[in-house]
Amino acid sequence: MQDRSEGAGYCFEATDRFDMKVLALSSSPRIGGNTDLLVTEILRAIRQEAAQAGPEGRFEITECRLSQMTIRPCTQCDHCHRQGTCNLADDMEGLYPQIEAADWLILASPIYFMAHCAQAKLLIDRCQVFWARRYILKQSLLRPGQAFRRGVFVSVGATHGVKVFAGVKVTMKWFFDALEMEYWDNLLFEGCDQKGRIRHLPTALQDARELGRRIVQASL
Ligand SMILES: Cc1cc2nc3c(=O)[nH]c(=O)nc-3n(C[C@H](O)[C@H](O)[C@H](O)COP(=O)(O)O)c2cc1C
Repeated sequence: MQDRSEGAGYCFEATDRFDMKVLALSSSPRIGGNTDLLVTEILRAIRQEAAQAGPEGRFEITECRLSQMTIRPCTQCDHCHRQGTCNLADDMEGLYPQIEAADWLILASPIYFMAHCAQAKLLIDRCQVFWARRYILKQSLLRPGQAFRRGVFVSVGATHGVKVFAGVKVTMKWFFDALEMEYWDNLLFEGCDQKGRIRHLPTALQDARELGRRIVQASL
């Protein structure tokens, strides 16, 4: 494991170099909480499935904890509209190239007041850079030869109801669109509040592992 930060320890990258890049961004400030546990299971399944796939299952997985990063709010200075880059100096400088390089982006956020948590929202807004590159500067984010860019959203809320994830799903539609990514799938669980409670939901961790396996199969 390689620490890409300067002492913060928020990003962990496999040392081997592989073809398919998976970037997992966990945003909950509750480390080891419900969304973290789901992401851990997804990544575990990706590693296992990729190992079984042999030489074709070549994955590089990078995990980042947004709550341990310094990400300032977008100020709508419009620098990105002109230059396609962000003017703010913080940990997004390291994250932008990883988002750009990712074939798969997994964003995990708990539901806070029917929305993303603040750490996820800071990231989302700072991705205005990609929207500007795509829609104002008319630059594609697809690398030459890149088959796809795909996004997966993971979320957990404490309450029940059809609207728990309605708002965040709309945001994710436009977030992944700005990143020139297909909004490939969700993993959403409601009625889950206490830290670690997700372990006791009947299918949650199993569903997470299945999602990880499907990510590998869809990449081969
Ligand atoms: C500030 C705050 C606001 C919350 N708002 C909601 C909400 O609007 N709807 C909901 O279903 N759960 C809400 N929750 C509960 C969390 O979504 C829930 O505990 C979730 O399991 C946390 O995931 P985590 O362990 O990954 O952080 C809120 C929690 C906090 C701390």
